Amino acid sequence: MAAPLRLDFVTSADRVERLPETAVEIAIVGRSNVGKSSLINALANRKALARVSNTPGRTRLLNLFALADGGAVMDLPGYGYAKASKTERAGWADMIEDYLLERESLEMVVVLVDGLVGPTELDRDMLDWLRSHEIPHTVVATKHDKVKSSKRERRKRDLAEGCQLEKGDIVWVSSNSGVGIERLRGLVGSWLALD
Ligand code: GTP
Ligand code: MG
Repeated sequence: MAAPLRLDFVTSADRVERLPETAVEIAIVGRSNVGKSSLINALANRKALARVSNTPGRTRLLNLFALADGGAVMDLPGYGYAKASKTERAGWADMIEDYLLERESLEMVVVLVDGLVGPTELDRDMLDWLRSHEIPHTVVATKHDKVKSSKRERRKRDLAEGCQLEKGDIVWVSSNSGVGIERLRGLVGSWLALD
């Protein structure tokens, strides 16, 4: 059984140059409201480690978390927050892209896609961009609990196809029901080589 990740908040920064160095790191990206902060809380089995909000776009900074025994997790700001101004959106995109291109310790990008509605066009843009830069990434589908059980097989197939991936390549999770959380903890452990 994969134990909760012993994550602690380290710092927030508005650009990659201002972050402390880490030995090995994974980053969590996804559109605003996809469930990034909720997932970090679920992985750590903590209620309010990362901020969760009903107001999309609240996490506007690079938020760094670290494990007690080494390794780090980056909570990136959600892309595509509709209510932000164009300049603000462009600023976030630059911040995220610079981080993804320049963070030396980055081992794996976890791309969250909404299990009910994904992938959106922005998700596909992100996947294309990661592929074009050959940045290692894994797609995780969130909110498994929101997909009716009768529709799950179909949804899993459609989501994978939309991401140009095989069904088995995608890790399905729910921060609410706990589905897939242990499996993802195990994967995080292997990416951060904690075993
Ligand atoms: P930003 O920081 O704004 O980019 O959003 P985020 O990606 O961090 O999303 P957050 O974790 O704040 O969750 C957004 C909303 O989705 C909240 O209302 C959560 O309660 C809800 N949510 C997150 N995960 C799940 C899930 O697994 N199941 C269900 N049903 N709701 C979820
Ligand atoms: Mg968040």
